[in-house]
Amino acid sequence: MTDHSELNLVEMNYDADRPKAANPLKVEDISLRDGHQSLFATRGRTEDMIPVAERMDEIGFWAVEVWGGATFDAMHRFLGEDPWERLRTLKRYFKKTPFSMLLRGQNLVGYRNYADDVAELFVKRTVENGMDIFRTFDALNDYRNFETVVPVIKECGAHFQGCICYTLTEPRLGGDTYNLDYYIKKAKELEAMGADSICVKDMASLMSPYDAYQLVKALKENVGLLIHLHSHFTSGMSSMTHLKAIEAGVDVIDTCMTPYAYRTSHAALEPFVMSLLGTDRDTGFDIKALADINEILERDVMPKYKHLLDDSKVSLIDINVLLHQTPGGMLSNLVNQLREMDALDKIDEVYRQLPQVRKDLGQIPLVTPTSQIVGTQTVNNVLFDTPDEKYKMITGQVKDLCYGLYGKTSVPINPEVQKKALKGYERGEEPISCRPAEVLEPELEKAREEIGDLAVDDDDLILYALFPVTGKKFLMQKYGKEPVPDSLKPITLEDVAKQDELVKKARNGELIEKAAAPEKSENTRTFNVFVEGEHFEVGVDEVGGSPVISYAGPAPAVPAAPVASAAPAPVTPPPAAPAPKKEAPPATDTASAEGTPLPAPMPGMIIKYQKKVGDTVNQGDTIVVIEAMKMENALPAPVGGRVAAINFNSGDNVAKGEVLAVIS
Ligand code: CO
Repeated sequence: MTDHSELNLVEMNYDADRPKAANPLKVEDISLRDGHQSLFATRGRTEDMIPVAERMDEIGFWAVEVWGGATFDAMHRFLGEDPWERLRTLKRYFKKTPFSMLLRGQNLVGYRNYADDVAELFVKRTVENGMDIFRTFDALNDYRNFETVVPVIKECGAHFQGCICYTLTEPRLGGDTYNLDYYIKKAKELEAMGADSICVKDMASLMSPYDAYQLVKALKENVGLLIHLHSHFTSGMSSMTHLKAIEAGVDVIDTCMTPYAYRTSHAALEPFVMSLLGTDRDTGFDIKALADINEILERDVMPKYKHLLDDSKVSLIDINVLLHQTPGGMLSNLVNQLREMDALDKIDEVYRQLPQVRKDLGQIPLVTPTSQIVGTQTVNNVLFDTPDEKYKMITGQVKDLCYGLYGKTSVPINPEVQKKALKGYERGEEPISCRPAEVLEPELEKAREEIGDLAVDDDDLILYALFPVTGKKFLMQKYGKEPVPDSLKPITLEDVAKQDELVKKARNGELIEKAAAPEKSENTRTFNVFVEGEHFEVGVDEVGGSPVISYAGPAPAVPAAPVASAAPAPVTPPPAAPAPKKEAPPATDTASAEGTPLPAPMPGMIIKYQKKVGDTVNQGDTIVVIEAMKMENALPAPVGGRVAAINFNSGDNVAKGEVLAVIS
C-alpha cells in the first residue's frame, strides 16, 4: 500500500480521469442478485433493474452478478417472471460488463443434486442466454459435485470461478477442521480443476479482518489465480475485513450499490472508492456516476421494496451471527418457521441445539441448502422429539445427506443418526461414497414426457425439471392456461403512495371501517405495510379501473421479530397474508369421511400424496410429502387402515393443523 501520509490531498481529484493506480482493486457489483436476495427476499424485478443498467455498465465493474442463487426460484414462484428472460433482457443493457451468476454446483439453482443431463443442459443454456462467469460452489466444499458442470462451463468458453465456502467451528480461523491449511488445500484443488479465479464465499459474515488478511496472503502465495472475496455484512465486520483483504492483495471484492447494501447484504461500494482514492489500489471509479445511480434507485425503485425490509430492529448488524455462526437468511427462516408453528418461544432452544445437529450431520458449512437442512432439522428436533426418541421427524433432505447424496461431509456423520435416517430409505440403507450424481438416473427425458407440450423450448423444460410443482404452475401462467394471480404482479410507485397515505390515515385514527363497505371482491390484493415496526394490512380492490380501499387496519398481532417478508424466499406466505384459496378438494366428501385424521404438523405446500383414496396402509407408511421451508417432510399414517379421504392436491398450501388425509 502507498504510505497514506504521502498522499497529496490538494492535487487529489475525484474525477474519473485521475491517474490510474498501479494495482486497481477490481469490483463486482452484486446488487442485482445477492443485494436484493439478502435484503428483499429475492423479490427484485427485472423492470426495476433496467433504470440503472446502462449507467452501471459504464462504471467499470469487473463483473455484475445478476442471476443464480435464489433468483431462478423466486422469480417464477413469487414474481411471475421467466428467469431466462431476465438474463436476455439485462444483456441488452449491459453491453460491456461481464455477467456473473451463483451456481450451486450440481444443485444448480435449486436445493438438491440434479442428474448430470439436467446439469449439462442448464449450463449450456445459461451461457447461450448470456452468462459469462460461473461462480460455482458446493455447500460441502465437495468438488466432485463440480465434475459435471465445470467441463461444460469451460467448453462453452465461460469463466469458471471456483468457490470455497468459508465456515468456522472456532470463533476464529483455526481448530482442527476449518483452518488455514483446509482453505489452501481447497484452493489448490480448484486450481487443479482449471479454475479461472477463486472466490472465498463468507456467506455467514464470519470472516474477521485479521483472518482475512492471513487467508488472502496465504492464498496469493499458494495459488496463481485471481483471488475474489465475497463477505456478507451481517456481523458488522465486513468493511474492516475487506480493507484488510485489500491490504493483503485481494484482487476482486463484491460490493453493493448503497441502497442494496449493509444489514444481511454487503458493504457498500462508495466508501471503498473514497477510502482507496489516490492509493495504489484506487478503483478509478467515478463517484459522481455512482451517486447518480443511487439517486435513481432511491427515487424510482426502493419505495417499491421498503416494505420488504426487516425494520423490526434498529440495529443494522446482527450479533447473533457472532454468537451462533448462523447466516442471516437462516436466522430469519428459523424465526419464520417457529412463528408459523406458534413456537417462537423455542428460538433459544433452537440456538442451543443447532451446533449439536450440525455436528451430528458432519460439521457441514451452513450455506444454502445445508443451512436450511440443519436449521429445519433442528426445529423439528426441538418441536417433535420426545424424551425417549431423538430425531423423531427427519426431513427427506437429512436422509439424502446421510446417504451421501450431497457429497462427503468434512467430518463423519454421527453413525446413530445416520442409521436412523436411512432406515427404510428408498435408495438403500447403506450410504454411498461415490460422486453423488453417479447414483442419479437421468431426469431430462422423464421431465420432457411429463411436461409435454407445455414446455415450448429447452429453457421451459429446465424450469420444469428443476422445479416440477412451481415450474409447472408458472408455465401454465406463462402460456395463458391459468391466470396470473394478482399477488404475483408488480406494484407501482402510485400503489406505494396510496399505501403510505392509508397507513398515515390509519395511524391517525381517520380510517374507520364503514358498515356499508362494498364486499371484498376476489381480486382484492392485500398488502403488508410496515411502519416503524408496526404492521398494517391493507386490502386494495380494483373497481372501475381505479383501486379503492376495501379495508385497512392494524394486522393481527405479530410478535416483535423480523417480519416474514424479509426471509429469503419463504415457501409459505407471510403470516398476515390472507389464507391461500383452496382448490376444490378431490371427489371424496371429506366431511363424511370418518376415521383418524392426519393433520399438517406445520404449514407448508403439498408436494405429493403417495397414497390415494381406497389404498390400504400400515401405520408409519408415508401418506403425503409436505414442503416446509424448502425441506420435504414425509408424513406417516398415524394408524393402519384404509385411506378414506385425501383433502388437498399437489401444489396446495396448507396451514398447520389442516387435515391432509383421513384413515379409517
Ligand atoms: Co452471498
